[in-house]
Amino acid sequence: VEDVAGETDFNSLTQWLMTNTKDKELTVLMAQLALACKATSRACAKAGIANLFGMYGEQNSSGDDQKKLDVLSNDIFINALLKSGSCCVLVSEENEEPIIVPEELAGRFCVAFDPLDGSSNIDCNVSTGTIFAVYERLSTSPLGTVEDILRTGNDIVVAGYCMYGAATELVLCFKQGKVERFALDPSLGEFIHTHANVRFPADGGKKIYSCNEGNALLWDETCKKAVQHFKSSGYAARYVGSMVSDVHRTILYGGVFIYPADKKSTKGKLRVLYEGFPMALIVESAGGIASTGMFNGSVQRMLDLVPTNIHERCPVILGSPRDVNLILGMYKGTD
Ligand code: AHG
Ligand code: MN
Ligand code: MN
Ligand code: MN
Repeated sequence: VEDVAGETDFNSLTQWLMTNTKDKELTVLMAQLALACKATSRACAKAGIANLFGMYGEQNSSGDDQKKLDVLSNDIFINALLKSGSCCVLVSEENEEPIIVPEELAGRFCVAFDPLDGSSNIDCNVSTGTIFAVYERLSTSPLGTVEDILRTGNDIVVAGYCMYGAATELVLCFKQGKVERFALDPSLGEFIHTHANVRFPADGGKKIYSCNEGNALLWDETCKKAVQHFKSSGYAARYVGSMVSDVHRTILYGGVFIYPADKKSTKGKLRVLYEGFPMALIVESAGGIASTGMFNGSVQRMLDLVPTNIHERCPVILGSPRDVNLILGMYKGTD
């Protein structure tokens, strides 16, 4: 019988993974990540009913006040990843120290994740997300080590984010791969492959700049000049305040997202391992550029950074080449 509108053959995430990686351990890992995303999406959706809004009452190692859903989503991801049997090291925004998986549960992958990104938006029902990056361990010792995950972003094997918006969408990118988009079909509880090879609009797309202008007085002169240029060139301002939402829109519509360093936060706000790096791999694989801008004395491609601590921060300038190259040109004095 011909498959009528996905009734007899579903292009599910698991089918896509088995077809495209044939790596069963990685497929199990990704299936557990997808389960955690579905469970987090469900928790966010019922937060008002289940009294899950509001603060948890503690701070994380980045100094963020933890929301109840930061902690709940963190527990969901840790349980799913520990029991995948595929991981040896876990790094979470919400955990001060790396989690070294016990030998009997350990596998060959290391995962850095931000279980709930944009969590300051959750109590007013503005979209949030999850961001993750997967590495393959290098160490051969019985237990994984933090060195297995303190590496250049060029070693990432899979990067992804899930956006909890009107639709729950999962966006994945395998190293040297394309960017793939999946949407959750709630009636099946499955992520269904909806778009292959997601790319920035070839011409740079819509003229949109995205940043928190509340920090503008503290930026360096180049950032001020670049945003002033966008303003005087008819760009629209769009800023959700959840990195996943701002980056997803930037890839699909075009434009530029920046979270620069400033006089207060000299390394910027966003964290390298579970915000900057995964988004940089996805943006580059979609034909965009992800840079730190001028950082430690030179303009750096973000994925080339080698972090020295798991919650390290870096400035972020990412988006369409049209717009990012304009800013980088200003830094290099060529613009
Ligand atoms: P998180 O909620 O995981 O701590 O991340 C919040 C981040 C990121 O999602 C967003 O781009 C940025 O913080 C917004 O920062 P401001 O509120 O300073 O604009
Ligand atoms: Mn946080
Ligand atoms: Mn975040
Ligand atoms: Mn977070």
